[in-house]
Amino acid sequence: MRIVKTIREMRAEAEARRHAGEIVGLVPTMGFFHEGHLSLMRRARAECGIVVVSLFVNPTQFGPGEDLAAYPRDFERDCALAGAEGVDVLFAPETGEMYAGDHATFVNVERLTGNLCGASRPGHFRGVATVVAKLFHVCRPHRAYFGLKDYQQVRVIETMIRDLNFDIELVRCPIVREPDGAAMSSRNSYLSPEERRAATILRRSLVAAGKRIEQGERDGAAIARQLRETIETEPLASVDYAEVVDAESLAPLGRIDSAALLAVAVRIGRARLIDNLVVEAVT
Ligand code: PAJ
Repeated sequence: MRIVKTIREMRAEAEARRHAGEIVGLVPTMGFFHEGHLSLMRRARAECGIVVVSLFVNPTQFGPGEDLAAYPRDFERDCALAGAEGVDVLFAPETGEMYAGDHATFVNVERLTGNLCGASRPGHFRGVATVVAKLFHVCRPHRAYFGLKDYQQVRVIETMIRDLNFDIELVRCPIVREPDGAAMSSRNSYLSPEERRAATILRRSLVAAGKRIEQGERDGAAIARQLRETIETEPLASVDYAEVVDAESLAPLGRIDSAALLAVAVRIGRARLIDNLVVEAVT
C-alpha cells in the first residue's frame, strides 16, 4: 500500500490510474478504523481497480466545543488494517496541505442540513461537504463509498454531487453493528464498559419503534415520542434528538406514508452517538 501525503502526488497517482483505464474507488474517512470502515474498503476493493482511502481528521466539520483535539487516532494500526484489506493508496494529508491558512471557500448544501445533526452541530455539514468536494477533486474517483450510519451525510453528499455536477457515483453501504446491536463508531472508544452497555439503547429504541410502524402506527409524532421515551428509560443516556423524517427530503413526517427515516442522537458519558433505521414505504 502506498502512503501519500501531498495533493500533487495524489493527483498524479489518480490521473495515471484513470489514464490506464482503471476504475478509481474512494473511501473517505477520519481514521481509527473499525469494521464499519473496513466494510467500505472491502466493497470498494470488490468493485474497483484501484482503491484509495483518505484519512483526514477534518477540522472544519468540528464545532468550537467539540472533540477535534480528543478525536481518537492510531496511524500505524490504520495503515496495517487498510493494507490488509488490499487498499492501494492511503491518502493522509496534514491539515496545512488541505487548508491554506486563509482558506475562504465553503460548500453549503442548503436543504437537508437544518435539522437532525445539522441542528445540533451548526456548520458541521458545511465542513463535511467542503472537505468531501476537495477530496473528490484531489482523488478523482469514479465511485465514492459512504456508510448509512451517517444517513444525513449520505443525503448531503448525494445532493452536492447532483447540484455541482460531480461525475461520481455515491455507493451507499449498510450499517455495521457490534453483536449487541450497537452501531460501530470510533466514538465508542470514549465509553466506559457500563456506558458501552447503555449504548445499546439507541438500536433498541429504533427496533421497537420500527415494530410499532409494522403493526400499523402511522403517526410520526407518536413514533418520535416513543423513541424519546424508550431512550429515557436508560439513566446514562440523554436524548439530543429523536425524529421521524422523510427518508429522501429529511423533512419531518407527520403521517408515515412514504419511506421514513427514524433517526436518533444520544449523549452517553462524553460521547454523542447516532443511529438510524429506514422503514420502507408502507401502505
Ligand atoms: P468517519 O466517521 O471516519 O466515517 C467514514 C465512513 O465510514 C463514513 O462514510 C461513515 O458513514 C462510515 N461508517 C462509520 N461507521 C460505520 C458503521 N458502523 N457502518 C457502516 N459505515 C460506517 O464520516 C466521516 O468520517 C467524515 O465525515 C468524512 C466523510 C470522512 C468527511 O470528513
